[in-house]
Amino acid sequence: MKDWIKKGVVYQVYPRSFKDGNNDGIGDLRGLISKLEYIRDLGANIIWMNPIYPSPNDDMGYDISDYRDIMPEFGTMDDFEELLAKAHSLGIKIMLDLVVNHTSDEHQWFKDSVARKGKYTDFYIWRDPKDGKEPNNWGGSFQGSAWEYVPERGQYYLHLFSKKQPDLNWENPQVRQEVYSLMKFWLDKGIDGFRMDVINYISKPKELPDGKVGANGFGDFHPIALNGPRQNEFLREMNEKVLSQYDIVTVGETVMVKPEHALHYANLDGSELDMVFHFQHMGVDSGKYGKWSDNRFDFMKLKRILSDWQEKLNGKAWNSLYWDNHDQPRGVSRFGDDSTEEYRTKSAKMIATCLYLMQGTPYILEGDELGMTNVAFDDIEDYEDIDTRNSYKAFTEKGVPHEEMMRYVHRHSRDNGRTPMQWDDSENAGFSKAKPWLKVNPNYRTINAAAEIKDPDSVYNYYRKLLEFRKNSDLVIDGDFTLTNADDTQIFSYERRLNGKALYVFCNFSNKNTKKLDFKGKEILGNYNDVSDCLRPYEAIVFED
Ligand code: GLC
Ligand code: CA
Repeated sequence: MKDWIKKGVVYQVYPRSFKDGNNDGIGDLRGLISKLEYIRDLGANIIWMNPIYPSPNDDMGYDISDYRDIMPEFGTMDDFEELLAKAHSLGIKIMLDLVVNHTSDEHQWFKDSVARKGKYTDFYIWRDPKDGKEPNNWGGSFQGSAWEYVPERGQYYLHLFSKKQPDLNWENPQVRQEVYSLMKFWLDKGIDGFRMDVINYISKPKELPDGKVGANGFGDFHPIALNGPRQNEFLREMNEKVLSQYDIVTVGETVMVKPEHALHYANLDGSELDMVFHFQHMGVDSGKYGKWSDNRFDFMKLKRILSDWQEKLNGKAWNSLYWDNHDQPRGVSRFGDDSTEEYRTKSAKMIATCLYLMQGTPYILEGDELGMTNVAFDDIEDYEDIDTRNSYKAFTEKGVPHEEMMRYVHRHSRDNGRTPMQWDDSENAGFSKAKPWLKVNPNYRTINAAAEIKDPDSVYNYYRKLLEFRKNSDLVIDGDFTLTNADDTQIFSYERRLNGKALYVFCNFSNKNTKKLDFKGKEILGNYNDVSDCLRPYEAIVFED
C-alpha cells in the first residue's frame, strides 16, 4: 500500500454544488479552481470529483454520454487542465469518478448497439422477451423494472439503475478494452486516480434468475448480480493492464460487501483496488421500506460494524472512512445531533474524531467540515434527485401517506448531501449570484465557511486540528485497533497501539453525560481543554500514552 494513500485525506467535491464560477446557478470547474486553497488549508490533499463528463443528467452525471470530454455546464477541457495543474502545484491530487457499469442511453455505443452495428451489437446486456415479457423479475435501483424493451431490436436491455443507464456487457472483451482505453486517456493527462462507481456490479452471471420479491413488488437483483463470478478476474485484468502502470489511488464503490470481500478487492498486495466503500454502516437505520425510514440508527450495530472492519482488515487490506457522500444523508444529522446549535457543533466534532482516528483513509464530503446538515424541503418538487422523485411516486402510489413519505425523504433523500456549499451568509450562501440548481439549505446564515474560519471553536477549525494531528501520528496511520467498552450503549471507544505507544479515543454518542471512565494519560485533543471525569453530551476525548 502506497504511503501517500495511507496518509492521504480525501475531500469529495460535488462539482454541481461546490462553487459557481460564472453565475448561472450551476457549480463548475472555474468555481472549484477558485477554491482549491480552501481545500488545501483544511488539510485535505486528494480531491474526488463526482462525474464531470457530458451527460443528459438523468442521474446527475452518472449517465455518461461521452467519456472523453467535459460537461459544457462545468466548463472545458482547458479548464480541467488548468484545474489539474493548479491542484498539483498546491500538492493536491485529483481523483475522477469512473462510471463503467453503465453508460447513458445517449452514448454512441448504445445507439450503435440498438442498431446492431458491428462490434457494438453486444456491448450491452440484451435478452429476448420471456413469454412476451421481461426476461426476469428484477427491479431497478430507482424503482420500476430493470428491463426496457426496444422495438427496433425486439429485445430488452438490462439497466440496474434508471432506464437511461443501460448496463455494459463486461463479458465482451471489446467492452473491457474500451474501458481501459478511456481510463488511460485520463491517466495520461495526469490525473491521480479513480473512484469507481458500483464497480462490483460489473460481472453478472450468464443466467439471470429471478430475485426474491421485495416491498417494491420486484425481484431483488443484488444477491445475484453483485460480486459476480468474474468480478475479481475483471479487476485483476484492469489492474494489470492499467492501474499498475501508474502511481494512483483507487477506491471502489461496492454495495453488499463484507470484510471478507475487501480482503480481495482492497488487499495490500495491490492486485485489485486500494480501498472499497462498503455500505454496512449505511444500513443501520433502515426500515420496512429499506432506506426510506425515519428510524434512529442502531448504535450497537454501528459499533460492531465499524470495529469489525477495523479488526478484520488490519494488516491485510486498507479501509476507507466515511460518514456520508452525495448519496447519503449528512453525517451530523444522521449519526450526530442537529437538533440544537450546540449539539450540532459538538456532535459534528465528535463523529469526525470517532471515524477519522481509525485506520484507513478519511473521506470528507464538501461541507462536512462545517457541520452542514440535512435539509427539509416542504415540496417534493424542490427535490432534483431521480431516486427521491421516483421513490416518492412509487411509495405514495402504494399507499404510504404523503406526510409519512416526506419524513423519510427529509431523512434520506440523496439531495441532503447535494445542497450547495455554504460559503458565507450572502444570498445563495455565496455559492452563486444566480438561482442555484438545487435550493440552498436555509441554515446557511449561521452555518457557513466564512463564519467558521473566523471562529476558533468552529467545526471547521476542529477539522483542521484533527487532520493535522492525524497526519503527524504514526499511531493513527498504522496502529492496531481494539474496541473498548464494547457493551456500553453510549460510548464508542477504542485504542490504537503501535510499538508500545497507545492512543485512546472516547466518544459519547448521546445527549447525556456518561459514567466516569477509567483512563490515564495526558489530553491532547478534545472539545474542551480540561480533563473531565465523565464524558459530556457528544464529547470526544483523545489521549496518547
Ligand atoms: C452510485 C453513485 C450514485 C449513482 C449510482 C448509479 O451509487 O454514487 O450517485 O446514482 O451509482 O451510477
Ligand atoms: Ca456555472
